[in-house]
Amino acid sequence: MAEPILKDEDRRVRITEVGPRDGLQNESAKVTVEDKIRLIDALSQAGFPEIETSSFVSPKWVPQLADAGEVFAGIDRRPGTLYSALVPNERGLERALASGVDKLAVFTAASESFCDRNLNTTIKGSIERFRPVFEAARRASLPVRGYVSCVVRCPFEGAIDPARVGETVTRLLEAADGRIEIALGETLGVATPEDIQRLLAGVGGIVPMGELDLHLHDTNGRAVDCAARALDLGVRRFDASCAGLGGCPYAPGAAGNLATEDLLRMLDRDGWSTGIDSDKVLVAARIAAEITGRSVVDPGTD
Ligand code: HMG
Ligand code: MG
Repeated sequence: MAEPILKDEDRRVRITEVGPRDGLQNESAKVTVEDKIRLIDALSQAGFPEIETSSFVSPKWVPQLADAGEVFAGIDRRPGTLYSALVPNERGLERALASGVDKLAVFTAASESFCDRNLNTTIKGSIERFRPVFEAARRASLPVRGYVSCVVRCPFEGAIDPARVGETVTRLLEAADGRIEIALGETLGVATPEDIQRLLAGVGGIVPMGELDLHLHDTNGRAVDCAARALDLGVRRFDASCAGLGGCPYAPGAAGNLATEDLLRMLDRDGWSTGIDSDKVLVAARIAAEITGRSVVDPGTD
């Protein structure tokens, strides 16, 4: 059967660059404020619609991002880019608002064990803590994202049924009165395209596919295949991290995020439009590699 022909507006894909947050939260090497700002400024040049810039979480829990305020104060903000940050509670909300964040991201999970390790509370308790964040966001007209982690597998509970993901998504939507972007976090990076298809079949009835964001990690090297399957099924929003940085300190076994360069290469090849300059992403990826002491693989041609 012939491929359906999509109109131009249906070929637009939004990429949120999460390297400065998901990438740098997990680094053992000390990355200076100046280097973080250099990386974010290089990413801004590439034209991302959103850069997840840092986290206003407890510095006791994630010391790598204790400098979130200084980072926000030092970056050059490009018009057209949203500079977002993770906020776990009211204390984080105050710090985030004082730093002038453009978008707030709360985070919970489909697995109680992971939620407990990551946030020291239950899924219900985490959502109760988010209520003031939702309220403040509404007053300030700020957009909010709600992450649901462990959508395919949990490091402590094993396989996660898509119905459990749907339950957490529904709870978030209710608490935020529908004013929330849902991001599905494949925290461990072990999903196959079939897992993603099952997940989307479970959640797609709750949130329209085109409004869901997919946050893939890439431990098993299948994240690009998973993104391609999600695209086939109507997902148009993805997170990615330059140089494939990433991981969660509270998810043992989780490796880097889907690399922005890899995702862009697939999207460019298949005729999707992102508005992002791939060459400038490579410049940023080299900075990311330099400041974290990693190597970056230059893409060849297909
Ligand atoms: P807690 O220990 O239960 O909270 O942690 P607490 O209220 O007892 O606070 C402990 C200390 O931290 C206190 O200081 C607070 O003042 C302080 P002390 O009195 O001991 O001196 N504190 C704060 N300081 C600054 N900013 C704050 C803040 N909150 C408390 N916001 C808490 C509960 C939620 C704070 C903690 O569990 C936490 O910060 N967790 C964050 C963990 C995290 O950032 N994980 C990584 C991000 S999630 C992820 O990577 C997954 C994702 O990528 C999607 C995916 O891949 O699946 C999003
Ligand atoms: Mg992540």
